[in-house]
Amino acid sequence: MTVRVGFLGCGLIAGFHALGLARVDDADIVSVFDVDRDRTSAFAAAQGATVATSADEVIDTSDAVYVTTWTAAHPELVAAVAAAGKPVFCEKPLGVDLATATAMIDLVDAAGVVNQVGLVLRASPAFRWLRDQVADEATGTPMSMVFRDDQYIPIQGMYDSTWRRDPAKAGAGALLEHSIHDLDLIDWIMGPVTEINAVTAHHHGIDGIEDQATVMARTGSGAHVVLSSTWHDITSRPSQRSVEVFCADAHLRVDGDWTGPVRRQHADGRDETIKLDHGNANPDADFIAAVRTGQPANPDFRSALCAHELADAAYRSAAANGATITI
Ligand SMILES: NC(=O)c1ccc[n+]([C@@H]2O[C@H](COP(=O)([O-])OP(=O)(O)OC[C@H]3O[C@@H](n4cnc5c(N)ncnc54)[C@H](O)[C@@H]3O)[C@@H](O)[C@H]2O)c1
Repeated sequence: MTVRVGFLGCGLIAGFHALGLARVDDADIVSVFDVDRDRTSAFAAAQGATVATSADEVIDTSDAVYVTTWTAAHPELVAAVAAAGKPVFCEKPLGVDLATATAMIDLVDAAGVVNQVGLVLRASPAFRWLRDQVADEATGTPMSMVFRDDQYIPIQGMYDSTWRRDPAKAGAGALLEHSIHDLDLIDWIMGPVTEINAVTAHHHGIDGIEDQATVMARTGSGAHVVLSSTWHDITSRPSQRSVEVFCADAHLRVDGDWTGPVRRQHADGRDETIKLDHGNANPDADFIAAVRTGQPANPDFRSALCAHELADAAYRSAAANGATITI
C-alpha cells in the first residue's frame, strides 16, 4: 500500500523532503497546504498533489503529514495531526523555545503517533563516521572538538525568508534556527554535555536574532567543545560545516555535511582521507518505513529534547555574559 503524504508548509525545506520522498517507492505526496497560496499551487503542481484549502483537509486526506512551516506554526499543526492519530514529521527546531518543544514532545508521546524530527544530520554518513570513530577505543580518549558552522544570513539568497528576522516566528537566530543541528551532534558524538558557556552577537542589528554564537561545552568524560556559528553576508558561499576532533590517538576531521571528505590521522603516522558513499541515507525513507511498520521513528521528537535544552542553556549563559550553566 502506498503511503499518502501531506505537507503543511510549501517552502524551501518542503522541496528538499519532496526530493527524499521521490526516492521512496511506496510514498506519494497527495495533498499540500501553505498560507501562501502561490507557494501551495507551485508545490502542488511540482509534486502532482492536490491544492488543499486548509490544514485539516491535508490531515484528512493523508496517511502521514510533514509540518514544514516556519517554526512558530509547528505546535498547533503538530497538535492537529496528532489529534487525528496520524504520523507526523516536524522540522527542527520543534518550537520557538524549550517549554514549547517539551510540550510538543509530551503531546506526541501521549497521542502515541509515529513522530520524527528534522535533525537530519544524524543520518549523515560523515557524522555517523565521526561518531563511530570517537566511540572506537582505538582512537583513544576524546579530548576536544572544534565545530565551525557558517552560512549567509538566510533572510536573503535562496532562503529569502522574512520570518527568520522575526523572533516571534523563528524563536532566535543562528544558534536555535540553524545550529540546533550542531548542538544535537555535539551531544550525540561527544556527550553527554554537562556544562555550557556561551556568548552571542548581533552584527546585523536585528533584535532577538543573533548572527554569531560561540558556545563552549564540557562533556561528562571531560572533553572540551567549542562551537562557532556565524551568519555572514558572503552569499556566494554555501552553508558549510567543518569539524575537528582530537582523541588521544587520532585526529579526526569532517568537511561538509554529508559525504565528507573525512580525514583520520593516527598516532602511528597513518594519514587517510576518505570520501564516503552516500549509501542509502535518506531520512524521508526512514520516516515512511516507520509509518508503514508502526515502529518508532528515529530521530523522534524526544531525541530533540537535549538539543533544545542545550540551546536554552546557551541563551541563558549568553544573557548572563557567558556564565557557566550546568546541564
Ligand atoms: N532540517 C533542516 O536542515 C532544515 C533546513 C531548513 C529549514 N528547516 C526548518 O524548516 C522550517 C521551514 O523552513 P523553510 O526554510 O522551508 O522556510 P520557508 O520560508 O521557505 O517556508 C515556510 C513556509 O511555511 C508557511 N507557513 C507559515 N505558517 C503556516 C501555516 N500555519 N500553515 C501553512 N503554511 C504556513 C509559509 O507561508 C512558508 O511558505 C523551519 O522550522 C526551519 O527551521 C530545517
